[in-house]
Amino acid sequence: MTQETLLLGQVLTFQADPFTAPIAEAAHVERTGGVLLRDGRIVATGPADSLRATAPMAPVHDYGDALILPGFVDAHAHYPQTGIIASWGKRLIDWLNGYTFPAEMAFGDAAHANDIAGRYLDLVLDHGTTSICSYCTIHPSSVEAYFTAAATRGMAVAGGLTAMDRNAPDGLRDTAQTAYDNSAALIAAWHGKGRATYAITPRFTPTSTPEQLEALGALWQANPECLMQTHLSEQEDEVAWVQTLEPWARDYLDTYERYGLLGPGALFGHAIWLTARERARLAETGSALVHCPTSNTFIGSGLFDMAARRADGIAVGLATDTGGGSSFSMLRTMAAAYEIGQLRGTALHPGQLLWLATTGSAQVMRMADRIGTLAPGSDADLTVLNLASTPAIAQRAARADAFWEAVFPTIMMGDDRAVEAVWVGGKPLRGAAA
Ligand code: GUN
Ligand code: ZN
Repeated sequence: MTQETLLLGQVLTFQADPFTAPIAEAAHVERTGGVLLRDGRIVATGPADSLRATAPMAPVHDYGDALILPGFVDAHAHYPQTGIIASWGKRLIDWLNGYTFPAEMAFGDAAHANDIAGRYLDLVLDHGTTSICSYCTIHPSSVEAYFTAAATRGMAVAGGLTAMDRNAPDGLRDTAQTAYDNSAALIAAWHGKGRATYAITPRFTPTSTPEQLEALGALWQANPECLMQTHLSEQEDEVAWVQTLEPWARDYLDTYERYGLLGPGALFGHAIWLTARERARLAETGSALVHCPTSNTFIGSGLFDMAARRADGIAVGLATDTGGGSSFSMLRTMAAAYEIGQLRGTALHPGQLLWLATTGSAQVMRMADRIGTLAPGSDADLTVLNLASTPAIAQRAARADAFWEAVFPTIMMGDDRAVEAVWVGGKPLRGAAA
């Protein structure tokens, strides 16, 4: 039996990339609009009246003037770092050694991994995020826990075993061979199962030997439909360390390029300190970057230049980088991207920020035909935002006389209180309708 549902509210859709098309052409807002869902997919968006006429029998969820948009897509996170988010006082390498690696050590215990995976996904759903690309740990149990918890909630997620075979403590290192074998087994078990996508995940060059990068490059070549995610040029100290570890390399990117780890479906987190050669190669190969603004300020990494990277012709997604990032919220993440843009001399438009947090992230994950969009035929993953969720936001939004001016206070000041409802695969997981 077909199951139809009609959601009513203000509806935001994107027709084009707002970094290459004017915002008025790229985005469309239906002020008295709706989204018609059928059997877990989006059938249509449009004016409320015409959708009511199309589906007169469909149950209606009327969200008034709340904003209906695609569920947020977080293109880079570390779910095992949920418990150490907001840990004080260290920069990248000391932060990894002091907080991150001790926390990740515990994920060999399946019960612990299950507990944190479920907690993490519930937290992101509270914040309106419906898809994530997450790192796990070196333990296959951490990957099993993540994909199982996502399947229980019906979420489309990507992720993979985080390979590390050097510069990590005892108990948190694998080898080139075990990383290959375990990742291959997890691909066979999970990639394409339900809504799961596997991401081959060498953590970064400082913790992966050339042998391990080579093995995972071969694995990606054998499984090109998988994603590949890693870190690149996050802090200047890290870039200098890579130079001493791999003196043969022309630059940091070269340590990945040599082993076939560039191309469509490759996601490089951070990428703040790039050379001209690296920028050109990223663009030529169709590799993507993921901007993690709350992390970049929290760990003191630097100011990513979004406008310049897009002008270079490089695709960029947006992400929390939990728990180097200081928030589970893509609203807070958009606010931080705006602030970094200002420090770089570009005021990102609210429509560009919302596009990055939905379609932009879905594109770099090669999933934009299914998520991060309200296009007919895509999966019914939606977030509904109350644009007056606190007195402070409400009094500002009340003064707005244009749509974007009414949305921007929620981007800058909103949190999980702004998330009125969340739908995943056509089912209400959060909000009054749940
Ligand atoms: N570089 C290598 N691993 C990590 C990590 O877990 N978080 C961040 N922010 N950077 C990294
Ligand atoms: Zn990261």
